Amino acid sequence: MDTEQLKQAFLDNFGVAPDATFFSPGRINLIGEHTDYNGGHVFPAAITLGTYGAARKRDDRTLRFYSGNFEDLGIIELSLDDLVFKKEDNWTNYPKGVIKFLKEAGHVIESGMDVYVYGNIPNGSGLSSSASLELLIGVICEELFGLTLNRLDLVKIGKQTENDFIGVNSGIMDQFAIGMGADKQAIYLDTNTLEYELVPLDLGDYVVVIMNTNKRRELADSKYNERRSECETAVTELNALLSIETLGELDEATFDQYAYLIKDGNRIKRARHAVSENQRTLKAKAALVAGDLDQFGRLVNASHVSLEHDYEVTGVELDTLVHTAWEQEGVLGARMTGAGFGGCAIAIVQKDKVEQFTETVGHIYEEKIGYAPAFYIAEVAGGSRVLSRK
Ligand code: GLA
Repeated sequence: MDTEQLKQAFLDNFGVAPDATFFSPGRINLIGEHTDYNGGHVFPAAITLGTYGAARKRDDRTLRFYSGNFEDLGIIELSLDDLVFKKEDNWTNYPKGVIKFLKEAGHVIESGMDVYVYGNIPNGSGLSSSASLELLIGVICEELFGLTLNRLDLVKIGKQTENDFIGVNSGIMDQFAIGMGADKQAIYLDTNTLEYELVPLDLGDYVVVIMNTNKRRELADSKYNERRSECETAVTELNALLSIETLGELDEATFDQYAYLIKDGNRIKRARHAVSENQRTLKAKAALVAGDLDQFGRLVNASHVSLEHDYEVTGVELDTLVHTAWEQEGVLGARMTGAGFGGCAIAIVQKDKVEQFTETVGHIYEEKIGYAPAFYIAEVAGGSRVLSRK
């Protein structure tokens, strides 16, 4: 969608021209999965799939939202004076949460707005359409109401919306990647300190192929919270002798020494994943910076093995895609990306093998699972931003 189409869509729905147009990306995660709520490192990147927006400030206190993805819902009308979660308000709970927390943080939003959004992140694909929307609303408010905000504040308000308004207990990776994304750079983030580094995603003859299982990650939220609490319990058990706040503080050798303190086999596996995945992320970043793509790919594979067998968040669809990808010619590595239980995986594939790759993997997946997957080339680009002004 280009800015002219966006402006036209806004005009068609609201009968006037917008003040500005916007874009907020989705994200992939190269490695560092289920580490962001365990005080570990993550290595995501913002992509060119995302959410577009057009908006105009109003003179009254009415908020009106229209989504090109949910045309049946029509215009949803809300009020600045009633920023509470209501199930029937559907996707507009995200904007409501963002506006509420911006106001609570002291930012002055005293008039309403009309907002059109359209996203091309496939629904339920685990490429963070919700964080994309949260940050989109953040930049819209920043622009329309002239707010002085630093980007990290906006990232935190996105996370706060997800945690305290929507009720998903996620970490900071998605909002951070989407808010801080930069062209052709991945983001190496320490979720404990929030120190980060932009790392050029220089893959030479290779590209990142996103492989969508086309299975929605339905179970994800309950299982997600379950994994979180398993890790928290493991920390408490380890603290019989250690003094740690998160699993990210441990290296593998230390963890092995004290793992006997954890009184349940599954919890040992969950904690072992959190520790080993964090260490793999450090190594993967070093390998990428050193240009050692083979090593990078091996670590990506190892990440999937750990997510499949220790953390147990993959499932037959993701495993079929990833295991099949591993067997193809010209593939450096493949793994699930995001929360798991469906959604997407990534594969690092030699450019001139991509066509053959998607054909073979697509065919084998469809034979086994019964429906086709989808493939997109991930282009790594900038974070949430204004596209045009009136
Ligand atoms: C989801 C969450 C993130 C992160 C990943 C798993 O995307 O929103 O915070 O925990 O799962 O790495």
